[in-house]
Amino acid sequence: MEKKLRSQQWFGKKGKDGFIYRAWMKNQGIPHDEFEGKPVIGICNTWSELTPCNGHFRELAESVKKGVWEAGGFPVEFPVTSLGETLIKPTAMLYRNLASMDVEESIRANPIDGVVLMCGCDKTTPSLIMGACSVDIPTLVISGGPMMKGRWRGKYIGTSDVWHMAEQYKTGDLSQEEFVEAEACMARTPGHCAVMGTASTMASMVEALGLSLPNNASIPAADSRRKVLAHLSGRRIVDMVREEMYLSKILTREAFENAIIVNAAIGGSTNFVIHLLAIAGRIGVDLKLDDFDALSHDIPLIANIQPSGEHFMEDLYYSGGLPAVIKELESLIRKDALTVNGKTMWENCNAAPCYDRDVVGTLENPFKPQSGMAVVKGNLAINGAVIKPSAATPALMTHRGKAVVFENIEDYHARVDDPDLDIDANSIMVLKNVGPKGYPGMAEVGNMTLPKKLLEQGVTDMVRISDGRMSGTGYGTVVLHVSPEASAGGTLALVQNGDWISLDVPNRSLHLEVSDEELAERRREWESQLRAQPPRGYVNLYIQHVEQAHLGADMDFLKGKSGSVVTRDSH
Ligand code: FES
Ligand code: MG
Repeated sequence: MEKKLRSQQWFGKKGKDGFIYRAWMKNQGIPHDEFEGKPVIGICNTWSELTPCNGHFRELAESVKKGVWEAGGFPVEFPVTSLGETLIKPTAMLYRNLASMDVEESIRANPIDGVVLMCGCDKTTPSLIMGACSVDIPTLVISGGPMMKGRWRGKYIGTSDVWHMAEQYKTGDLSQEEFVEAEACMARTPGHCAVMGTASTMASMVEALGLSLPNNASIPAADSRRKVLAHLSGRRIVDMVREEMYLSKILTREAFENAIIVNAAIGGSTNFVIHLLAIAGRIGVDLKLDDFDALSHDIPLIANIQPSGEHFMEDLYYSGGLPAVIKELESLIRKDALTVNGKTMWENCNAAPCYDRDVVGTLENPFKPQSGMAVVKGNLAINGAVIKPSAATPALMTHRGKAVVFENIEDYHARVDDPDLDIDANSIMVLKNVGPKGYPGMAEVGNMTLPKKLLEQGVTDMVRISDGRMSGTGYGTVVLHVSPEASAGGTLALVQNGDWISLDVPNRSLHLEVSDEELAERRREWESQLRAQPPRGYVNLYIQHVEQAHLGADMDFLKGKSGSVVTRDSH
């Protein structure tokens, strides 16, 4: 190796420092020649029993290590903060930026030449990539893979059914006992959510960005071929170090454009918008909220996967995986974008077969004519808000209705099912103070379950507006990520019951029909709910520094990168 490896600044030292850097490592049974110039590959593991979607990662890491050894590297596995979507309160999103700091500092501070990021449950992907971007060494991602389809009473079920079943439970059509039975039937294998929720959206984003080997998005966690992919990823990262293929060589503007185009064709989660903006902010690529609309508004839904379609991630794999989808996007994608295997996106996908046209459609024969993200703006969302057309009811995309306002999530829970609540199917439900600063952490509560009395009348969708997010497995005519948020003094904070709101997605507008004078008057009376309880610790830091949703909700001081150089030794 002509150029000195980064790890040799530790392991290659003579005298006292070299002794200290190597001796304690040797207590793990490592021969001396491992320290003599082999690429050291960090395996950044988000295994945790509290992140069940990543519960198989210890085993999967062993497959990565085999590949690293075979290629002449030296693998070192290390843990980082693992964010499980289902258990963490008040929301895993509150800790995405914290986890990214852990990842960044762990990579930079240690003798690592290249890193494999092991990502699975929703936030474990953006937090790891954001952190790695701020260091910028050769980086490759292996995702954990989706669960197999759940099966209950002869029916396939997945995370999107949770929301349907919750409505049935609310109306008494499903008992508590039936609910418990369905739990075990849904989550029956290792892996993350089996539909195109946020985790699968993130695994697809990784593949579309060129950060993984082909087929990373869809191979089920329980399928032996997931281990093969991990093994091959281990081999490949060693060569990436030798080729000096830094993360910034992969994450170009073209790569981000590919991710946005592919995300539209698969009906990916709205959370994609926030995470991709945050990643772009770290690596230093200029990406704006409006780019998502401009690049995706005319792209149809090609992959027929829940929640926008019918099938599961497992079915996508059997049908040809993400390469089969990307092949259909030939006229749209940036073909020359480089990927981690050293080939371009188009070289990887141009010969991809499709085995099932009921799962992977074509541009001429898509499953829905409109997919992607629409960005709406107006006095109610000056910096924009997001709606996912493929998950919405077409008839509600242009709608004028009277606001029914919930001041915060507690107010919503307390009143939504009140039989006396003045609400009908034409009303617009407005939820405030669930944004980045307001919740805090911008929880997935934007797709509010409809009032019980309306569900009983057979109402299936209503326009809902908030500064929060929704689960990638959710659906409905839901306007999310309103920026600025209510707690930061956005117009959303000033909406009152009975105000008329007009949503016009075709014209990209979201308007509160209240005069500027009246709004100015209301603003004088308004007081941010934030001042009520000033928190300490990380949450205090977060509320002070988190940026608004249209910028990716990263912390202002985390944007950009510091690189991989550390000049001082520890002793
Ligand atoms: Fe982990 Fe859905 S809860 S991916
Ligand atoms: Mg989620």
